[in-house]
Amino acid sequence: MNYENKFTTHKIPEVSFPDGLRDETKYTFSITYTDQHSMDYAKFAETTKDIILKDGNSLAPYPDPQGYLELRNLISERLSNLRGIQTNPDSIILTGGAGGAISTLLDIFIEPNDTVLIEEFSYLGTLAMLLSRQANVVHIDCDDEGIIPESLEENLEDLKSKNITPKFMYLISVFQNPTGITISLKRRKEILEIAQKYNVPIIENESYADFIIDGDPLPPAMYGMDDTNSVMYISAYTKFLGCGLRIGYAVVPEPVKEQLAKVKFGTSPSQLATMSVYNYLDKHGYEHGLEVEKSLMQKRDAMLSALKENFPDTCEWTKPNGGMMLWMKLPEHADSWETLRKAVDRGVKYNPGGLFRANRDKNNYLRLTYSYNTPNEIHEGIKILADVFEKEKLI
Ligand SMILES: Cc1ncc(COP(=O)(O)O)c(C=O)c1O
Repeated sequence: MNYENKFTTHKIPEVSFPDGLRDETKYTFSITYTDQHSMDYAKFAETTKDIILKDGNSLAPYPDPQGYLELRNLISERLSNLRGIQTNPDSIILTGGAGGAISTLLDIFIEPNDTVLIEEFSYLGTLAMLLSRQANVVHIDCDDEGIIPESLEENLEDLKSKNITPKFMYLISVFQNPTGITISLKRRKEILEIAQKYNVPIIENESYADFIIDGDPLPPAMYGMDDTNSVMYISAYTKFLGCGLRIGYAVVPEPVKEQLAKVKFGTSPSQLATMSVYNYLDKHGYEHGLEVEKSLMQKRDAMLSALKENFPDTCEWTKPNGGMMLWMKLPEHADSWETLRKAVDRGVKYNPGGLFRANRDKNNYLRLTYSYNTPNEIHEGIKILADVFEKEKLI
């Protein structure tokens, strides 16, 4: 078979990736893998076995198109207790990770040349999905409280003068990927008002809301602060229990749910994985959360102290109270994109800042994740990274 001229070309994003990004490394500070050191696999096996024995016959038919009801019930309870969202299982749709939820939503919203607003730096997976659908991505300036309302409104006015209304804004509102910023309560109110004024819905991605380490309690989700159907909410259990499980979800207003029902065929996540996730969370969710918090605290602290020991004052980095990553600023001249190859050759991987931008600029920033390696490995890897940057004259 000759596949030449068979594949679509428009779904390949026209963006570049730095050399070395896909190599295996010992010190992997580039991916938000599940914290394997806090997961109790014996308990997971036990609760999985129990739920199969109890409810295994639900594996025979195709799953409910919105996913396993028990898990949707549990999600709705947790969202009410933890995130200020009053919803019901009927508004929740289980998906293949948060990524599956994003992709499905893009399917019903995005056509080539549509405009979407996102933060100054944003999750590279969503960015790739948007660019592959030929969306026009507009980055909005941020400070340490999230996107800046004045900048948001300025961009909206500018677009309005060109007769453009963005399809939506996409915000990672808690422990943002990649910057770690949480949008403050005051900002949330301002952003919602602007969204309503300009008729631009919000996709609120809270993939990291389960990863609180210390600091102030989180502000409530924007989904729960809104009574005008302006927000779609996304989250996942992939990072909490296992990236390999691929369980995420969307909570959506009725008009969005109706539209999704027209396009979502045969893409529900595995019923077995959803049953396993449900039973583990139901039996051990709370204690597992405490283990994750303890483990991430040690790893974050290891990374912060290793950075302080090895990097000069000309570099700045965030001190996150949650999530799995920190955001680093190098001197203006530094190019973390070009240097990645050298770091990977020494066993260390990170994400250059440009990966989180549609046009791949701002590479004097980089993202470092701390969820995968042990505290000792984090110390070793950061020491090597500082040495690479010094030899390459970045710092
Ligand atoms: C903000 C954000 N959204 C979505 C995803 C994809 O998550 P999942 O593995 O649940 O599909 C990631 C993964 O890193 C992420 O950081």
